[in-house]
Amino acid sequence: MTASKKTAGLAGVIAGQTALCKVGGEGAGLSYRGYDIYDLCDYAGFEEVAFLLMVGHLPNRSELDGYITKLKSLRGLPDAVKQVLEIVPANAHPMDVLRSGVSILGNLEPEEDFANQQSVADRLLACLPSMLLYWHRFHADGKRIDVETDDDSVSGHFLHMLHGKPPAELHRKSLDTTLILYAEHEFNASTFTARIIAGTLSDFHSAVCGAIGALRGPLHGGANEAAMELIQKFSSPEEAIKGVIGMLERKEKIMGFGHRVYTTSDPRNSVNKKMAGVLADEAGDTHLYANSEAIEKVMWDEKKIFANADFFAATVYHFMGIPTYLFTPIFVCSRITGWSAHIMEQRADNKLIRPAADYIGPGLQTYVRIEDRR
Ligand code: COA
Repeated sequence: MTASKKTAGLAGVIAGQTALCKVGGEGAGLSYRGYDIYDLCDYAGFEEVAFLLMVGHLPNRSELDGYITKLKSLRGLPDAVKQVLEIVPANAHPMDVLRSGVSILGNLEPEEDFANQQSVADRLLACLPSMLLYWHRFHADGKRIDVETDDDSVSGHFLHMLHGKPPAELHRKSLDTTLILYAEHEFNASTFTARIIAGTLSDFHSAVCGAIGALRGPLHGGANEAAMELIQKFSSPEEAIKGVIGMLERKEKIMGFGHRVYTTSDPRNSVNKKMAGVLADEAGDTHLYANSEAIEKVMWDEKKIFANADFFAATVYHFMGIPTYLFTPIFVCSRITGWSAHIMEQRADNKLIRPAADYIGPGLQTYVRIEDRR
């Protein structure tokens, strides 16, 4: 076997060092800067986790209050960004909308100096939900919404803009928890993309645009939308089991299952599953949660493949009235924290990322001039 086959997809390859996040291995299944995600979900809010990841320590009360106030002040969108969002077609993919939004912001508010990188990260964290929901509401209801709401949290700001009123605390807290769970995950595909771009000493916005592009795919962030489409296809758990077995027989992939690093479970799943159950009860759900549980069980029974963070996150979002096509963009609104922290970590000890390849093409050929070719 060639070296490239052994390391296909860089599986198991250690491609660098990070102090941001530990995935799997001994101790907690997932920790951010040494803090177990279960503790963060129970006791912290998303802004506290954002601060932890990017600044490097848990904020004290005055640091956190100051950070929340700062993020609130950065939610507004320049008119030029609003104009672009209005021109982007209503049927555009919202991940493309965010990618374009970040790109135009990078033109209007370029990162002039790496010394300002934290400000760029804060600006993006604060205004990504504004971009997404401004575009969504403009095209869905013809409204030019005010993106500068008075909600303290990113989750409250998001749901307020989506539904036009401040959210119920259960919904805000549930979204907040999924944002914590999605915030950071070591050298996943989109983060690695961001690090590769940062490693060329390119600008912050370019690294984030690349990361959004990588996250869009169904093998990465796009899985939460595909999971909901699957769950909704079936009208009962029995039908779901039959349908999934058929898909497995046809060698189709079930989105929201499996993971490159985890082998027996994804630690984020139990948190999402519990929230999905609570929200399903609240919404008077008749079959979607039961379908999800049935699919989870049949995947384990048939293939020993477990639900990852995306599977029950889809149900959580559905029951707070979020349209399916906004699921993956929510991932962006969260993972911007992890991407930003990685861009800063990469820059702090930069080395161009440029691996080597096993050449498998033809040997040296004799060049034949075009007029002599048949
Ligand atoms: N449904 C069905 N089979 C799956 C599967 C899934 N979700 N995930 C993995 N498998 C099977 C593969 O078909 C393959 O079987 P084979 O060896 O018989 O060919 C085997 O498990 C290994 O899968 P592979 O895709 O090669 O592993 P990977 O480490 O490259 O991929 C994922 C990891 C996440 C890309 C993969 O599990 C997947 O595609 N999952 C669905 C997408 C998803 O949920 N992504 C979000 C990840 S957080």
